[in-house]
Amino acid sequence: MLQSILDDFMGEALLEDALQIYTERTKKSKETYERAREVFPGGINHNIRFFEPYPLYIKSGKGSRVWDVDGNEYIDLWMLHMGAILGHSHPAIVKALQEQIEHSLHHGFVNEKAIEFAELICDLVPCAEKVRLCCSGTEATQYASRLARAYTGKKILLKAKGGWHGGNDVLQKGVSYPFEAKESLGIPGEAQMYTHTIPFNDTESTLDIIEDHGKDLAGIILEPMLGAGGCIPATREYLKAVKEAVVKHDALLIFDEVITGFKFAGCAQGYYGVAPNLTTLGKTLGGGLPVGSVVGEEQIMNLAEPGGKVWVGGGTFSGNVSTMSTGIATLKYLKDHPDVYDKIGSLGGELRKGIDKIFDEHGAITRTTGIGPFLNTHFPSKDVSIMSGKFDAKGFEYNFRLINYGILFLPGRGGLISAVHSKMDVNKILEVTGEVAGEVVHGN
Ligand SMILES: Cc1ncc(COP(=O)(O)O)c(C=O)c1O
Repeated sequence: MLQSILDDFMGEALLEDALQIYTERTKKSKETYERAREVFPGGINHNIRFFEPYPLYIKSGKGSRVWDVDGNEYIDLWMLHMGAILGHSHPAIVKALQEQIEHSLHHGFVNEKAIEFAELICDLVPCAEKVRLCCSGTEATQYASRLARAYTGKKILLKAKGGWHGGNDVLQKGVSYPFEAKESLGIPGEAQMYTHTIPFNDTESTLDIIEDHGKDLAGIILEPMLGAGGCIPATREYLKAVKEAVVKHDALLIFDEVITGFKFAGCAQGYYGVAPNLTTLGKTLGGGLPVGSVVGEEQIMNLAEPGGKVWVGGGTFSGNVSTMSTGIATLKYLKDHPDVYDKIGSLGGELRKGIDKIFDEHGAITRTTGIGPFLNTHFPSKDVSIMSGKFDAKGFEYNFRLINYGILFLPGRGGLISAVHSKMDVNKILEVTGEVAGEVVHGN
């Protein structure tokens, strides 16, 4: 295992010292990983959570901190897949769930809590006139694709190279660099024959592709900021041009805000001032419990009525009262504390700038991308500037070294500053970055 990570570094055994410290600090995680491999393929339940030599097993989380099974404390920046905007176990969310479970965890009937939840969503998400709840972002993007095809009566869907919309058959295409290979065996080519990719932020080429497919185009699904693809924000011009082209061809614009939702006043669509027809939501929306949602213009959403034309929102656990209670607590808090967005945006900006400045002082060019509370540090190489989905060995090494100092990014992935991270946390991350930057850039 250790060898395979060193091989990834093409023989530059830069990480050996850091791996040694890691294995000494996390003996119980290693044992737990070995146990997990006996029951889970690869020892995990979400591929992204695995990293070499073995992932940390986390036991608890509170605020901006998590603790692993060895008892090590970390400033967490992974934050529930960049969803825990109010930190782990926020008191208002815990209280809401405690009150709810006195009554029911889930009973499988319609309930008033779901209505209150949807009313809050309509208040906070500009394009939301109607809401359909489900249990994951993967389901939400699948339903949004179906609605777009049904509403327009057309088949073609466009998605960005490097965009990740969950593991559904229709959209799991063009995710990993260089975006040509099949993402998974078991997805028949036919399931994706009407899904095509567009180059993110390349307006001219994207508009050409839209023109090529114009008359058959059902919709374009886009993350306003590629999340899993490296926290790479769209330019406002790009989104505006795509929106205009979509309107011209009587197609729909779907924003996948599973990551960006509720990180800006009015979500990313408010931040960019571009209105999609449909939006998919997840992560933050559930306040820590599983959730997904497709929301949007009434005439499109109404296709999902029972007895209507489009099947949207099966799901035994859709609208369950436990998630409704944690979701309501989260959205109410955000509604009552809009200052949160300024705070996380300014701390996020400080961290992005600070990291790049430190690496610059050590003679390396980094680009810590992201908007608002998001960040992902890239070490662009000569041949490929910043490409989502491409393994960035230095980015991995930087994050991996931080772990030994109690700062936890999922190595090589993006991170989130939440409402409960502090200026002191940011200073600490920058201080430790200063400690490890030399090793990352020059080796030992
Ligand atoms: C933008 C985006 N869409 C959809 C999904 C899928 O959501 P879920 O993991 O809840 O199925 C994700 C998950 O990371 C995501 O980042």
